[in-house]
Amino acid sequence: MSIGFYAPTNVTFGAGAEDKVAEVLKGYGAEKVLVHFGGGSVKRSGLLDKVEKSLTSAGIGFIELGGVVPNPRVSLVRKGIELVNNEGIDFILAVGGGSVLDSAKAIGYGAYGGGDVWDFYCGKRKVEGTVPVGCILTLSATGSEMSDSSVITNDETDPVYKRGVSTDFGRVKFSLLDPELTYTVSKYQTASGSVDIMMHTLERYFHQGYALDFTDELSFTLLREVIKNTPIALEHPDDYDARANLMWCGSLSHNGLMAVGNSNKGDWACHQIEHELSAEYDVAHGAGLAAVWGSWARYVLDTDPDRFVKLGKGVFGESDPVKTIEKFEEFFRSIDMPTDIKGLGLEFDEAACRKAALGVTFQDARTIGNFKVLKTEDIFNIYMMASGLK
Ligand code: NZQ
Ligand code: ZN
Repeated sequence: MSIGFYAPTNVTFGAGAEDKVAEVLKGYGAEKVLVHFGGGSVKRSGLLDKVEKSLTSAGIGFIELGGVVPNPRVSLVRKGIELVNNEGIDFILAVGGGSVLDSAKAIGYGAYGGGDVWDFYCGKRKVEGTVPVGCILTLSATGSEMSDSSVITNDETDPVYKRGVSTDFGRVKFSLLDPELTYTVSKYQTASGSVDIMMHTLERYFHQGYALDFTDELSFTLLREVIKNTPIALEHPDDYDARANLMWCGSLSHNGLMAVGNSNKGDWACHQIEHELSAEYDVAHGAGLAAVWGSWARYVLDTDPDRFVKLGKGVFGESDPVKTIEKFEEFFRSIDMPTDIKGLGLEFDEAACRKAALGVTFQDARTIGNFKVLKTEDIFNIYMMASGLK
């Protein structure tokens, strides 16, 4: 079996896409909307005000729920579920980045399914439906605007857990993608977002089994575009071309396109290794990925060096696999992203590496990875390498 393609989200792309919000919501029959947002960037930019004015003019009711934090928390999700259930909400509109989107998706699952929403994230229950969700995206990074995933942090447990759930109910109904809305994203979040975009393609590229050449070539193009456009967006935050390319690369990198025809959905070990860091230490997801990728790559290189050779040639015109890994790291450093755990502002000793590795494997209850299957000891070694201890 090879991977197929299902990406049912209705995308409107381009400057002013958000002006369509009321019209699109009406098309879905929305009457009362939960407008979900983060810590205030959408207030400062005037976007929230603009959106709410268009809803009011179109006669669509709404209530607000702001306060989503990066690495979104289940406690706010519970608040959102209560609002949806008690206020007769029939549509959820996420206005923000990946964290707002993921929180909106979780509210949708919980309000539809009842019971404890965390059950869906810890694997106790399967998502069987959702209150419909749409979005106005303000940050190019996670691809949640077209992906089937939602990642939530449980802040009610000690230690905190960060868990993802993937389901086609997570594909939002519509995404309004206006690159101009990302002009105000900070340099750090822009760079972190670009790493995440690259990683969604790299995680799919590295897998065991058949790889469709066309999909590989699409992957190289996407990676080259992100490498080309990120420095431009950092230097000129309001460069439309750069922001537009990053935004569309973000959506395509995680909507499934980059695995079509391959024999499986990819490796995803770096994501698991990173999620343990952002759960425990609240680091930005893309920065965490940059911090561990090089160590992962060196650790797994011998599994299939030819895959690295093909990647190096396709992205950098470089046929040496070790130099290819170095080139990715040089790029990360050039956009001020860390290439080790210290660069995240964390001091990891052996005990911290051990604890994190056990966290990833749910205390030795699972393996991760597909390119190379990794056990707790392997993950420990990767954390040690990323901490400069090996
Ligand atoms: O909260 P506000 O004030 O909006 O500020 C945010 C936040 O502080 C700010 N921001 C967003 N748009 C902005 C802006 N600042 C100025 N101007 C704008 N236009 O950026 C900060 C980070 O936002 P966040 O949404 O947390 O970032 P991102 O989009 O990178 O999302 C990260 C989360 O998504 C998860 C990550 O693990 C993390 O929890 N992921 C979700 C995936 C998915 N659903 O498919 C896949 C990914 O692999 C990832 O795991
Ligand atoms: Zn990611």
